Amino acid sequence: MSTRASLLLLLVVSAACSRAAPPSDSAVSASASAPEAGAAGHATAASASAAPSAPSAAPSDAGSDARVGLDIIYVPTPQKVVDKMLEVAKVTKDDVVYDLGCGDGRIVVSAAKKIGARGLGFDLDPQRVKEANANVEAAKVGALVSIKQENVFSVDLSPATVVTLYLLPEINVKLIPQLEKMRPGSRIVSHDFDMQGAIPDGHWTVTAPEFVNGEGYSAWKGAKVPEDKKNYRERRHEIYLWTIPLKKAQPADAGAAKP
Ligand SMILES: C[S@@+](CC[C@H](N)C(=O)[O-])C[C@H]1O[C@@H](n2cnc3c(N)ncnc32)[C@H](O)[C@@H]1O
Repeated sequence: MSTRASLLLLLVVSAACSRAAPPSDSAVSASASAPEAGAAGHATAASASAAPSAPSAAPSDAGSDARVGLDIIYVPTPQKVVDKMLEVAKVTKDDVVYDLGCGDGRIVVSAAKKIGARGLGFDLDPQRVKEANANVEAAKVGALVSIKQENVFSVDLSPATVVTLYLLPEINVKLIPQLEKMRPGSRIVSHDFDMQGAIPDGHWTVTAPEFVNGEGYSAWKGAKVPEDKKNYRERRHEIYLWTIPLKKAQPADAGAAKP
């Protein structure tokens, strides 16, 4: 992650933590798009910056975080970015896609519905598991996709051929030992955040809308995307791709693991 994005993350976290908690079924979000994944999709709100917004601790999801000990709150990936992630990872019907911290399941649901790939989504938050299961059902991909309530750090990744991430840079790094259990040729694709120490094979930027609320930061709306779209603004979303075996940066390059 760039220094700018890191700073932004810290700012968003600080701002969020200083506010009172809104209704429990809500969360700060970095992005928004009509949730193609199904009925349980949601509107979100955005940071005020064009730089990658960071999923962060936030007032709106504080209750949820406290209940299940989340490492990061829910921030959905816009469908346009989901589609690009699946494209750059070259997902086929023969792939097994794992989404670590799957939120409403839109990535694995999309991979199954559009490509016919099998998928497993993992999330610790029971609310997200419920929404993801509703989306699996709505998309009629139950034969291909399962959702599990499980900590990302305990998932055996060896059966996966593609892993998708929208977590945080330090979580990506912490997952490296698990990711390296995947077979050679397996791909890892991350929304917005890199993985320090591992050199990506590719880096793409996608411009997609995110919702900005009156306070100028991303917020969970707990509802479908508003029709008017007037509060949407475009921002750039970064996508990083790695292939197993990971190409490790030399210590001198470690801070700048660029493709
Ligand atoms: C930024 S959201 C990404 C959602 C989805 N992957 C997407 O891109 O739309 C991160 C998700 O990780 C989940 N999460 C946070 N910590 C977790 C953990 N330790 N194990 C499993 N899930 C976790 C949160 O509940 C949230 O749904």
